[in-house]
Amino acid sequence: MLDIKIEKTSSPKAKPQKGEPLGFGHIFTDHMFIMNYTEGKGWYDARIVPYGDLTLSPAAMVFHYGQEMFEGLKAYKGVDGKNYLFRPDMNAKRTNATNDRLCIPQLPEEDFVQAVKAVVEVDKDWIPEEEGTSLYIRPFIIATDAFLGVAPSKTYLFMIILSPSGAYYASGLAPVGIWIEDDYVRAVKGGMGFAKTGGNYAASLAAQVKAHDDGYSQVLWLDGVERKYIEEVGAMNIFFKIDGKIVTPMLNGSILPGITRDSVINLCKHWGMEVEERRISVDELLEAQKNGKLEEVFGTGTAAVISPVGKLRYKYDVMEINGGVIGEVSQKIYDTVTGIQWGKIDDPFGWRVEVK
Ligand code: PLP
Ligand code: COI
Repeated sequence: MLDIKIEKTSSPKAKPQKGEPLGFGHIFTDHMFIMNYTEGKGWYDARIVPYGDLTLSPAAMVFHYGQEMFEGLKAYKGVDGKNYLFRPDMNAKRTNATNDRLCIPQLPEEDFVQAVKAVVEVDKDWIPEEEGTSLYIRPFIIATDAFLGVAPSKTYLFMIILSPSGAYYASGLAPVGIWIEDDYVRAVKGGMGFAKTGGNYAASLAAQVKAHDDGYSQVLWLDGVERKYIEEVGAMNIFFKIDGKIVTPMLNGSILPGITRDSVINLCKHWGMEVEERRISVDELLEAQKNGKLEEVFGTGTAAVISPVGKLRYKYDVMEINGGVIGEVSQKIYDTVTGIQWGKIDDPFGWRVEVK
């Protein structure tokens, strides 16, 4: 159990007005969580302090070799007035899987969850209440040794910042267009694809810029070896409804094991639907589309929630999905996942966690 010292701000900021469009990730709350790590001493000095800039050596290793990790989860204002998190234990577990890959020290899962709850509790008045909004929570760890050699750092900072946010895509629940990338690749098995670390996102930017320039919202990555099999989207996992079955790429080491992905798989199985986690080639999608069997496509992610895909581009082919409108199953999944998150419906899985 962490002993968290709390220093409240003496100059709280103005909160966004009711109804003001929040966008995603632009606004930050009054406080942040920080904890230090030093080799031989472990994690220490857990504290919640006024939100503000950091002072770091320009030689801090994170700036040069990217030794860092991050997570993403949300706090929701329930319809019953309570504040909820969604499966924070899963973010804690994934943190340690990422840390393991990046030679960052392990962080006890219960400390991760305690820190998230504590900082959300301090800034709970920042959880927005309008439909579709939430408080986005961004835990991260950075390597802070002032050293230019390539080696794991001996010191780190674990921090959590909070951002009241609306929909990740400006289009909200309207289907997005996705660009299947056939030139750049994001990750390969044995690399860092399964880890939540900045380098994976830096690797994605060039393709994302290209896709944006062509009017697409995000990139869908193919496998890094054969450039044939579907992996995931820039900030979400991907699902297809093909001939009545729910199909999603299996976890193969190069894609992020999404918590929303896991929740959707569990939900669909709970409903008695057939779910397949397997390799899916882009040719299979083109073929299914030609035969009228590619019925629905949607992405899943904390920021993106359940995001219907209305258009998929691959080279010279553009596949229009379900007439460019959200499919029935996608809508039902969206309603159920968000219903659980906002406390509108029963939570048979025990995924909702209250923050006082
Ligand atoms: N894939 C990538 C690359 C992501 O950045 C995200 C977002 O976190 C996801 C998938 C979805 O993961 P989760 O559902 O845990 O948010
Ligand atoms: C999230 O959904 O939490 C993410 O981390 C996506 C982010 C890259 C915007």
